[in-house]
Amino acid sequence: MNWETVADYAALSQRAAEILLAGIRRDPRIVLGLPTGRTPVGMYQRVVAECTREYHCFRDVTTFNLDEYVGIPREHPGSYYTFMRQHLFDHVDIDAANTHFPDGPAYEDQIGAAGGLGLTFLGLGGNGHIAFNEPGTPSTSRTRVVALSEHTRAANASLFPDSRVPIYAITMGIATILESREIVLLAAGANKRAAIERLRSGEVTEEFPASALWWHRNVHVIVAE
Ligand code: GLP
Repeated sequence: MNWETVADYAALSQRAAEILLAGIRRDPRIVLGLPTGRTPVGMYQRVVAECTREYHCFRDVTTFNLDEYVGIPREHPGSYYTFMRQHLFDHVDIDAANTHFPDGPAYEDQIGAAGGLGLTFLGLGGNGHIAFNEPGTPSTSRTRVVALSEHTRAANASLFPDSRVPIYAITMGIATILESREIVLLAAGANKRAAIERLRSGEVTEEFPASALWWHRNVHVIVAE
């Protein structure tokens, strides 16, 4: 695992955006695994700013989001579909047909048909979750519907206008994520510090899903103080 600590959230966003854009420059047909949540917002802002200058940025890029809520319409203000449109897709030249959200086990086949995940960005839950793989998730897990923990629902309540966070979500599994050729984990702020220290300890346990990343050969962790 390659660790990088940066001064603040702006620096984290800048580094993450550079890595994403370098990935597209290296391979304009790259397949990206993309996160939602508060952490990647600054990365997307910088990517959008850069791509309004570079016209063909996302023309041939394919994306697979990590997760989505179940039981709310796609257009709901709290959905990850809405999040991705607001923060990235509506502002770049991506073909909507090349953007994907998990909708069932067939998601794994769609990822495979696109050539597999090339570069995947992850946020980190305060309880160590990655995507919506909550504590206790086996490292062999695949795309499936999961019940969200109370910890996660409380953490995400402010992202729902009425604080009514869905009870279920659909998420890529740990095994799905680990098949990405390259992974970048982003963590910023005091409420992630304990989780980052636990990850850094190197102990791999299903009780702390992010620790499965130690199995992967090409993980870059960017931490903002
Ligand atoms: C959410 C998402 C995760 C995200 C995490 C951290 O529950 N499903 O993919 O990484 O929580 O979110 P934030 O960046 O808002 O702290």
